[in-house]
Amino acid sequence: NHRRRRIYEGKAKILYEGPEPGTLVQHFKDDTTAFNNEKHEIIEGKGVINNRISEFIFTKLNEIGIPTHFLRRLNMREQLIREVEIIPVEVVVRNVAAGSIAKRLGLEEGTPLPRSIVEFYYKSDELGDPIVSEEHITAFNWAAPQEIDDMMALSLRVNDFMTGLFAGIGIRLVDFKIEFGRHYEGEMMRVVLADEISPDSCRLWDIKTADKLDKDRFRQSLGGLMEAYQEVARRLGILAESD
Ligand code: C5P
Repeated sequence: NHRRRRIYEGKAKILYEGPEPGTLVQHFKDDTTAFNNEKHEIIEGKGVINNRISEFIFTKLNEIGIPTHFLRRLNMREQLIREVEIIPVEVVVRNVAAGSIAKRLGLEEGTPLPRSIVEFYYKSDELGDPIVSEEHITAFNWAAPQEIDDMMALSLRVNDFMTGLFAGIGIRLVDFKIEFGRHYEGEMMRVVLADEISPDSCRLWDIKTADKLDKDRFRQSLGGLMEAYQEVARRLGILAESD
């Protein structure tokens, strides 16, 4: 039912040409992947719930003055976004040791980090998103020094906001990944938050039970992924109403 031109198709999302110049439609698929596509499954309804959760978070971030690409939700699986030039750097913010940092630095999963740590990864499926430093980012011109500063400052603001948001509903924000884009308005260019924020890109642990409420349920074949994502949506107060 799409007459719109497909601009880009990723593992979990499709971008279509938008209704007005400078806009795109971001479509959330049910595809669930891990280990750089080695593990792949369709989990029915995941796209619908991630569309809602990401809408909820981006709306709040817009409200507190963090610039994002999000404009409005269009339907169950789609949202209208501003067209941006994606910066090929994934920013990971960590509050608690888990996943790759636990492995790399020999830390026990669940150990609180001495402070929030921001890491950069080069966005490349072929290379499996290798970790990089600011030196690599500027040397290869993936982003300018000022853009790195902007991404770092925005990431910490997103972390502060989300840590509080999730703590209020009994969830520990362990870590998350975000992406940024360049938004051009005439001569002006600014760095804005892009992509999505959902349980696909965060680690969310129930404060009471330590249950994992995120994509680790899929990575570790724990089952119950949809139930976990629905629980996150329910606690955020997002109604499971259909359109
Ligand atoms: O695997 P790692 O511990 O580095 O992941 C850190 C955080 O970034 C996790 O919340 C994970 O879901 C997210 N992530 C992601 N996309 C990637 C790599 C990591 O959303 N390509």
